[in-house]
Order: sequence, then C-alpha cells, then structure tokens
Amino acid sequence: MDICVVGAGYVGLVTSACLAYLGNQVIAVESNPERLHSLQSGGVPFFEPGLEEFVKKTSASGNLTFSDNLTAAVQKAQVIFIAVGTPSLPNGEPDLSQVMVVARAIGGALDDSKRRIVVNKSTVPVGSGNWVEMLVSQGVAKAQKSAKETVPASSGRSEGPSFVVVSNPEFLREGSAIADSFYPDRIVVGSIDEQATAVMKNLYKPIISQTFEAPSFAPRPAKLETVPFVVTDLASAELIKYSANAFLAMKISFANEISGLCEKVGADVKQVAQGIGLDYRIGKAFLNAGVGWGGSCFGKDVSALMQVAKEYSYPTSLLEATVAVNDRQRLVVIKKLQEELKILKGRTIGLMGLSFKPDTDDLRDAPALTIAYQLLKMGASVKAYDPVSNDVCKTLHPHLDIVYAADVEDLASDCDALVLVTEWAQFKKADFKKIAKLMRWPLLIDGRNALDEDEIRACGITYRGVGC
Ligand code: UGA
Repeated sequence: MDICVVGAGYVGLVTSACLAYLGNQVIAVESNPERLHSLQSGGVPFFEPGLEEFVKKTSASGNLTFSDNLTAAVQKAQVIFIAVGTPSLPNGEPDLSQVMVVARAIGGALDDSKRRIVVNKSTVPVGSGNWVEMLVSQGVAKAQKSAKETVPASSGRSEGPSFVVVSNPEFLREGSAIADSFYPDRIVVGSIDEQATAVMKNLYKPIISQTFEAPSFAPRPAKLETVPFVVTDLASAELIKYSANAFLAMKISFANEISGLCEKVGADVKQVAQGIGLDYRIGKAFLNAGVGWGGSCFGKDVSALMQVAKEYSYPTSLLEATVAVNDRQRLVVIKKLQEELKILKGRTIGLMGLSFKPDTDDLRDAPALTIAYQLLKMGASVKAYDPVSNDVCKTLHPHLDIVYAADVEDLASDCDALVLVTEWAQFKKADFKKIAKLMRWPLLIDGRNALDEDEIRACGITYRGVGC
C-alpha cells in the first residue's frame, strides 16, 4: 500500500519504518530541513534502541523514503498519517498548530484520483477527528478556488477529492518503540466508515495475525498469535488514548501514595505491590514506587484530559490527585537526603540518570530535572551522569548548574550522597565496593527501588529506598 506519514518525529518515524518493513511503500514527510537532511543521510535525531539500524535497513530496501514534498507524497498515497507533535501549552492544553497546518496542507494537496484515508496518529483532544475533517475540507476548498481562478469552469473538473478522517492512536513506549509497534496489546481504529476501517485492517493485517518475519532485534513474544483490532467511533478512539495514559499514571501514583504509608507503618511497598499485582484484575505492571512518572506523554495527556472535562464543567478528582501525588513524589528523595545528611547546603549530591526513564535520551518532564533544580535552590552542588543524555541536558538546560560526570565512578567521587533517578541497566551492575571508597559519605538513595539493597549495604553504603 502507498503510505504518506507527515512528521518524522518519534511516532512518525517509528510508524514509517515499521509499515515499510511490512512491505508498504512509505514516504515520510518532514518539513524541518536539518532533520530531513539527517534522515536522508541515515541519521536518527533521537536515541531509541535499534531504530537507526532499522531505519537504514528499511530505507535501503527502497520501501522508506524521506521528503519535504507533501503534495507529491499525499497524491501518491492511499493512507495519509498525521504524526506531528502536540506539545502542551502553558495552560495544559495541547498545541494543535502543527496539526492545523498539516491538515489544511493535506486538503490542498488531495486530487480526485482515489479516495484517501487521513489518519490522526498525533495525540489530539476528543473531538479533533471532526475538526481535522473540517481543516482538510478547508484546504480542499481553497485549492479548488485557486484552481477555478486559473482553469476555466468548462474544464470538466469533478466534484472534488474524496477523503475520510479516522483516529488511530499509538500506544508505543519510548525505549521499546519498535517492539511495541509490532507486538501491541491492541490496535484501535476510530471510524464509522466501513471502507476506511477495512483498509486500516488490511494495512495492519500482518500485525493482527502476526504473519510477518520478526526482526532479529525485536523477537516476537512467546505465544503471541493475534492482536485485537478494535473499531470504535472517533471520539471513543480519542478517549481511549487519553484514558490509557491517565490510568497508567494513576496506577503509579497509587503505588507512590501507598509507598508513603508503607514508610509510616513499617511495611515494604515492593512486597505490597507484588501482593496486590498478583490479582489479575490489578496486574503487577506500573506499580513500581519511586520518584514518579515523567516524559512527554503522561503529564501532557492527563492535563489535556482535565482540560476537556473542564469544557463540560465535569470534575476530575482522580486525575487531579494523580498529578498532585506525582508532584509530591519527585521530592521524596530530597526529604530522605535531609533525614540522613541533615544539612544539604554545601553538600555534593550525585544524580544517577537524567532521562525520564532508561533507554531514551528524552528529558521532557524528567524527575531528575525537578530534583536537580530543588537541590541547587537548597544550596547543594549537583553532579550527574546519564549514559546517553549528559550532552542533551547540557544543550537543552545550559543554565542548570550541574557538573557532568564521565561515568558512575567519576560521579561518585567526593559525593555526600548518590541518588538513583533513572534505573539504567548499567547502574545495577556498578562496582559499589569501589563507589563506596570514592564517596565522601557513603549514602545511596534509590529513587526507583531498582538496586540490590543487600549488596549495597554489604559494601558499607547506607541504602534508602522508597516506601521500604
Ligand atoms: C507512555 C505509555 O506507556 C505508552 O503506552 C504511550 O504510547 C506513550 O506514553 C505515549 O502516549 O506516547 P512512555 O511515556 O514512553 O509511554 O513511558 P512509560 O514506560 O509509560 O513510562 C512513563 C513514566 O512512568 C516514566 O517516567 C517511568 O519511569 C514511570 N514509571 C513507569 C514509574 O514511575 N513506575 C512504573 O511502575 C512504571
């Protein structure tokens, strides 16, 4: 199938490469010249395990190309994905300006050679499907008006291009984006147009029936034979995306709220999470207590959901509590540092990890940044080491007065405490005996409950986890 994906950011690029791998002809349209040039020369502008190699391979097969010519890509395609960013505005609403520009441009580029399906892959507020349809129609009308001005009315032009807008939210996670795209828990398509849902089902058929050859670096999970294909109306598909992220964020905040109570009553949140997670109705995923959730999705989506509810004067007490617990949770490690070190002024604190989670260089809404700013405000010196995002942090946060370390041992040198903020695999394998000797004061706050507490204590380091 001929596919056009507008926006070669995180979601757009992964979607393009995966659909190209499945045998489709994909043109990824990118308007940023630097990013386009980098993609055309085999580079990927962010860190995602396996993606650079995968993009190179699918490009070499001839199935994936990059272009800034939206009109040509749209005219060739049967299915057009909108995968541009929708970052949060200061008031919590998503900034839909890129979606607006792209939807109108798609309308302007459509011809009447075939019926197109315009797919909303960007995370947009409930009701945006109808809005995008209006914008595409506006683009069509504008193009027709200027065509009429140049081509005489007798030229026999037909009624105009035919298209339908569907919603197809994505559920991939940073750090495991390719595997999540090939082996999703479900594929959701929001549309009441039978032809459109049939085309989308056909496009995703290799994933639904798991008939494609699994890439060597992303093996198929054992026993996965089929992926549910869920067809809903537009608004429900849009709400599924927000509700899924809000629920996951709420689950983590729940575990974090219980972790505080565990500390009061002398219980261990890891045991509590295991005990409740074994109930299949609850499930054990996303019950890890720690410094809380971050990233570009949970905060943005929970706040967008609250904004939608506000338009209807509908109260969202659970969502508000989810955010409040998370805001509070980021600072629990500072409380623990105060309990152990008493005075933080003049102390040197080493942050293990900066990215909002392992296997990504993404610093958006990263708990490490909140912790660093707060420590600096309190008069401490902050060192940090992240396996991939030291340079990203230097560039994006030039005023953040952090001393960047070259590795975890360099980080530990002369520190009064280490705080594990991001549970990168390499931190779990660190030489804590050596680390203990390098530190000025052997204290480690494990903000993710990810390290082996007994091993660390055996090295002479005071260990404090969260909720235990
Ligand atoms: C999230 C969702 O998991 C994806 O399904 C969704 O597609 C994506 O948002 C999106 O909307 O684009 P992502 O933000 O990449 O994916 O990362 P997650 O793995 O969900 O982690 C989010 C945050 O929760 C991280 O900061 C992580 O450290 C934290 N977390 C996760 C916890 O604090 N505890 C847990 O038990 C699990």
